[in-house]
Amino acid sequence: MMRVVHTVAELHKILLPYWRKGDPIGFAPTMGALHDGHCSLLRQSRADHNALTIASIFVNPLQFGPGEDYDEYPRDLQNDVKIAREAGADLVFAPSVAEMYPRGFVTFVDMEKLTERLCGAHRPGHFKGVLTVVFKLFAVVRPNHAYFGQKDYQQSVIIQRMITDLNLDVKMHIMPIIREPDGLAMSSRNAYLGTKHRQEALVLHQALDRAKELIGGGEKNVKKLQAEVRRLIGAVKGAKLDYVSIVHPETLEDVNDVSGKTVVLVAARFGKTRLIDNVIVD
Ligand code: PAF
Repeated sequence: MMRVVHTVAELHKILLPYWRKGDPIGFAPTMGALHDGHCSLLRQSRADHNALTIASIFVNPLQFGPGEDYDEYPRDLQNDVKIAREAGADLVFAPSVAEMYPRGFVTFVDMEKLTERLCGAHRPGHFKGVLTVVFKLFAVVRPNHAYFGQKDYQQSVIIQRMITDLNLDVKMHIMPIIREPDGLAMSSRNAYLGTKHRQEALVLHQALDRAKELIGGGEKNVKKLQAEVRRLIGAVKGAKLDYVSIVHPETLEDVNDVSGKTVVLVAARFGKTRLIDNVIVD
């Protein structure tokens, strides 16, 4: 039977025997509005033979900037619990904001450089919020294995960096992007898209596919590749490009030409909805 708990104290009671015995815990932190991408994380945790697979559902106010979609973010705990159960979760941790950030909370996890680039440049403070909540969730769950999606590529790099820099005893697993049948990367924010923007948003995947195809054909010139991605996205009336970047997979620094493992990332707005996507080429 799957359990749903809302407090750190309840969670602690359930997890204590697992911690004591050293039974492995698999953990997928989420903000809810679960889709197949999240389910792939939970399924992988089960496939990895963790003794317990945990999903957290918490819309983290710290990672939303002023004017962003914190209030609109889809929340349906009952439905999420059902989806998590079907995907193989043994436990859902769904704390309140007061449980995570009680009165007097003033401690944060911050990181330089990696968080200042790409999405960090467009969403000041976002990654400080992500790192702080993920650190806290790791502290309360004490997972052995943590599962994240490659769709949030920069997020996965900075969380891996935090694990390394702060000597956290967690093994990180980054799972491939799960796409809708027409190629759109699954995201809880896709629910905001009207019919027109939903159709227009396909250009992100199409432009990345084109970049991948050009690289496969031998194109190494980053300027040319970026220009082609910009041209394709620019041709879509409702799309407003935030960035197209071609970067080193770990440092996230711009590369001059494509050689070895490289990541092509895009972020664009369709109306008020900001979407991201990426592809790893080698
Ligand atoms: O990727 C997300 O859904 C969130 O950024 C995370 C990792 C759950 C932290 O709130």
